[in-house]
Amino acid sequence: MQHSAVLNVMIKAAHRAGRGLKRDLGEVEHLQVSLKGPRNFVTAADRKAEATVREELLKARPDYGFLGEEGGAHAGADKSHRWIVDPLDGTTNFLHGIPHFAVSIALERNGVIVAGVVSNPANDELFIAERGKGAFLNDRRIRVAARQKLADAVVACGLPHYGRGDLALARNEIAAAQQHFAGLRRYGAATLDLAWVAAGRLDAYWERDLSPWDLAAGSILVREAGGFVSDLDGEDAIFEKGQIVAGNDTMHRELLRLLQEAQKQTVAP
Ligand code: IPD
Ligand code: CA
Ligand code: CA
Repeated sequence: MQHSAVLNVMIKAAHRAGRGLKRDLGEVEHLQVSLKGPRNFVTAADRKAEATVREELLKARPDYGFLGEEGGAHAGADKSHRWIVDPLDGTTNFLHGIPHFAVSIALERNGVIVAGVVSNPANDELFIAERGKGAFLNDRRIRVAARQKLADAVVACGLPHYGRGDLALARNEIAAAQQHFAGLRRYGAATLDLAWVAAGRLDAYWERDLSPWDLAAGSILVREAGGFVSDLDGEDAIFEKGQIVAGNDTMHRELLRLLQEAQKQTVAP
């Protein structure tokens, strides 16, 4: 399949970083049984992956700005373009040797995400999307699931981390979802949750307390696959609020309604 020049750059960067992470996963598996554990090794692998992505992207587009989870923001001479990168999404999975993690790269133009790449190096799945051109998994066109009945739907969510987030609210949201959907999942890599909604594997997904690098590439994948994306107020401020609800038209609307009810119940017990 012929890709645009900019997608080629993003794919090359994701593949190079992903190859490194896949090698490092082997070492992580060994380190599970060592007393010291793999934490320091994983931190280094994460930083190395970001350095690799950054080097590839800046080689091709030296003037673009760069926002990465590890190295933060770097302004570029070109103020209208910025890369948004999560070099290793699903760090906890990676740390435990669970092969479900991703390299996520998005391109923002004048505040709008125009291209996204999410690569899972462990199973060689590559999700790509460009604004107005559709979404693809390993070069096959993908679309959100057509399912309309909540009782048939499988939905993924995030869970507040240890010491973070509103636990009472999360419990109410989960309870609401459990009562209506066929299955609830927590996979641990936001970018892949979104990619899986785009691919129709998941019917919907929601999570709070996320960062732009968790949302940027995945959100364009869902939209280009014909899905809907909003914050938990049903508005478009996913990056500002760090929250997302994604799914097809029906699933997005129904999940949003359930989450908003759960929120009301939490605030006014
Ligand atoms: C995390 C993962 C996880 C989500 C967290 C994110 P990281 O990103 O996407 O699924 O629940 O909130 O921070 O730290 O593994 O890059
Ligand atoms: Ca992340
Ligand atoms: Ca990360």
